Amino acid sequence: MRKIKIFDTTLRDGEQSPGCSMSINEKVTLAKKLDMMGVDIIEAGFAASSQNDFEAIKEISKVVNNSTVTSLARCNKNDIDLAYEAIKDAKNKRIHTFIATSDIHMKYKLKKNKEEIKKIVKKYVSYAKSKCDDIEFSLEDATRTDKDFAVEIIDIAISSGATTINIPDTVGYTVPFEFMKFLKYIKKNSKYINDVCLSVHCHNDLGLATINSLSAIILGADQVECTINGIGERAGNAALEEIVASLDTRYDYFKAKTTINKKMIMEISKCVQEITNSYVQNNKPIVGANAFKHEAGIHQAGVINNKQTYEIINPKDYGVYTDNIVIGIHSGKNAIINKMEKMNYDISKYDISSILNDVKQYFTNNSSINDETLEKIITKRMTKK
Ligand code: KIV
Ligand code: ZN
Repeated sequence: MRKIKIFDTTLRDGEQSPGCSMSINEKVTLAKKLDMMGVDIIEAGFAASSQNDFEAIKEISKVVNNSTVTSLARCNKNDIDLAYEAIKDAKNKRIHTFIATSDIHMKYKLKKNKEEIKKIVKKYVSYAKSKCDDIEFSLEDATRTDKDFAVEIIDIAISSGATTINIPDTVGYTVPFEFMKFLKYIKKNSKYINDVCLSVHCHNDLGLATINSLSAIILGADQVECTINGIGERAGNAALEEIVASLDTRYDYFKAKTTINKKMIMEISKCVQEITNSYVQNNKPIVGANAFKHEAGIHQAGVINNKQTYEIINPKDYGVYTDNIVIGIHSGKNAIINKMEKMNYDISKYDISSILNDVKQYFTNNSSINDETLEKIITKRMTKK
């Protein structure tokens, strides 16, 4: 069975989203949950970025049981030393080092040429390897990198000890077919890529992070990097819940599995929302309030007869236990009956058509109805005692 590793970066890239900073205790709480949920790798932070990050990674490393714990590090001695110092108590540890490889980043950010970048990669991937067996190397802005240069860098990183090569779409720029072509080129031209784990890390600037990650899986990626609720720099990262649900729901197509315990997804999503005070939109796949709700009468009638008419996912599999039939302006008699049955009414004693009319009337001035108001409407329309 093909397995896709889930690398969760909620605590690092996720925390980089504006207003999403977390305390050390909050990070530890989340890391324990991610570990329990079966995430393969937890990127616990960026040790060199702050004392807080360093301490959070250190604490997380002590409590995580199964997941590999990693810290991000730029390709320099100080970052790598701090990353290793922060993760050294973890049962399974990884150093994740990176450098930008696109022309625009090399010229304007790093002010270095290609030869200099190659030397840095060789020197610091080897240095990281001297401290830790499990080394991930990322080519920042890979999707805007010259493809032959990317291949050269990848082979240097692997021959210097990298065990995972990560291809980030740092600015969320690529589109699925182009990304697949790029990965195909790398797989075909790199001497060593097929000996190591191939990872992707997609940002969501064009709303393509999930589909780009899935496209990479089709092309042979072994690991995807993602965050809970898709939080992350700017428009965020690929959402863990969307990738896991896609692979699971469409196993027939992807033929690949993760080891994520899906039942914990809603709980962790809520925990991240509360800790970061950053709430997902109602129509967010899997974890949004409306993700499994049906309001239109035609849909409700279908779902009441057979869920598969409009439900491709069983919400309970993802830890979602809310009522999926919502009474709204578009609801029909089936939904009213279904709701009344759930509320233990004997429907033979009520005038359902009148209740439906009253409900529709109510919705001319209101956008939602609670159970108390609905009960008042129902009580007025009792026909037999
Ligand atoms: O988006 C990015 O390029 C990153 C890397 C540091 C992995 O977050
Ligand atoms: Zn990123």
